[in-house]
Amino acid sequence: MIIMVIGSGGREHAIIKKLWENKKVKQIFALPGNGGIAKDAICVPIGAQDMEKIVEFAMQNKIDYAVVTPDNPLVLGVVDALEENGIPCFGPNKKAAMLEGSKVFSKNLMKKYGIPTANYETFTDMKSALLYVDKVKLPVVIKADGLALGKGVIIANTRDEAKDAIVSIMQDKVFGESGNSVVIEEFLQGPEVSVLAFTDGKTIKPMISVMDHKRALDGDKGLNTGGMGTVAPNPYYTSEIAKKCTDEIFVPTIKAMQQEGRPFKGCLFFGLMITKSGVKVIEYNCRFGDPETQVVLPLLESDLLEVMLATTKGTLDKVDVKFSDKSACCVVMASKGYPQNYDTGYEIIIPAYLDATVYVAGAKQDNDKLVTSGGRVLGVTAVSDTLEKAIEKAYREVGKINFENAFYRNDIGNTAKKSIGEVIKWCTEYL
Ligand code: AMP
Ligand code: GLY
Repeated sequence: MIIMVIGSGGREHAIIKKLWENKKVKQIFALPGNGGIAKDAICVPIGAQDMEKIVEFAMQNKIDYAVVTPDNPLVLGVVDALEENGIPCFGPNKKAAMLEGSKVFSKNLMKKYGIPTANYETFTDMKSALLYVDKVKLPVVIKADGLALGKGVIIANTRDEAKDAIVSIMQDKVFGESGNSVVIEEFLQGPEVSVLAFTDGKTIKPMISVMDHKRALDGDKGLNTGGMGTVAPNPYYTSEIAKKCTDEIFVPTIKAMQQEGRPFKGCLFFGLMITKSGVKVIEYNCRFGDPETQVVLPLLESDLLEVMLATTKGTLDKVDVKFSDKSACCVVMASKGYPQNYDTGYEIIIPAYLDATVYVAGAKQDNDKLVTSGGRVLGVTAVSDTLEKAIEKAYREVGKINFENAFYRNDIGNTAKKSIGEVIKWCTEYL
């Protein structure tokens, strides 16, 4: 089988490495891939949003299966364009990708189908949004409707901050057209859990739960990032909570999308918060998370390609999605200054043998060297019998990798490690 993976991050690297475990895979192309992915796939310099070139490349190279992972191409309709040309895809079509592409759409869907989420109002008119903010409880959460590179959510502690956010989204258009509408919602509190799930539109099979670490600095301080590290499983996600989520959130979401004439196929990402009044959906993503994927796939015991093909064919009920009972920890090594300004072009030295897997995100090939080219540079994942051992191993191996200006958090997994007792308390209060 000849496969094409669209994207260029650590997530795509993890998917490519896992796909190779299937013996039927003969070749993998990455569009555009990166300097590290180049070891595991043929990188083709076509951008993830260059729809025409992607389709042309797929036709010319007799691609049997396309895996479309980043949010932008999915929301743009790359899956639709490929499928119209007879190329089967992993990933939702444009109509289904609205679940991430429009927060107004997803919030209204949840309200209509009784799926638990924060209370909210939506606005297309800035004046009404500003007036509404005078009446709400603080803090309040302001969200741009469309995609915003993960920066479209502002938690405002004062009315002025909320108003500034509304003006910059709706008037100054800092996120472009994504700011034509806003969602203003209630601030929720509680531990967060990411659950990715395979679905063919009818059946949904959740993957192992994950805890992400979004802030740049230790102790959850600093700016929000794409994610500085992950651990799986997430101890807050007990089997009781998993059952509730399946019954109250996962299955109802799939059914709702079916009823709306937008069956969702691919990987659906549930960003959940375990609040004292129940588990609520914070957001949907229409794709694998990054760096969630870098801890989920190393623990997947089933064949990724087989499961992916089943989501495309509508036969997910016939395949097993099994996970190991081990734990995984991924530490992201970033460029100092990320998520703001940072320098690039530094050589990355990775020892030939490591007791961890290195997923490359922001690096390019420069002659024979691998050099930094982005904010998040590497994701280093270790797997072990316990969470403690996985964390310890990940940090030990991170210590053996070198590049100038390397920066990483030192406390990935600490909350998860410390929270076991607290989890029982928190969860009994809720259940
Ligand atoms: P997102 O960009 O949608 O992933 O949101 C970023 C982060 O904002 C989430 O991971 C939450 O930590 C936080 N967040 C989003 N919505 C809310 C909310 N209603 N209450 C509290 N925190 C929120
Ligand atoms: N790590 C969160 C995301 O992929 O959006």
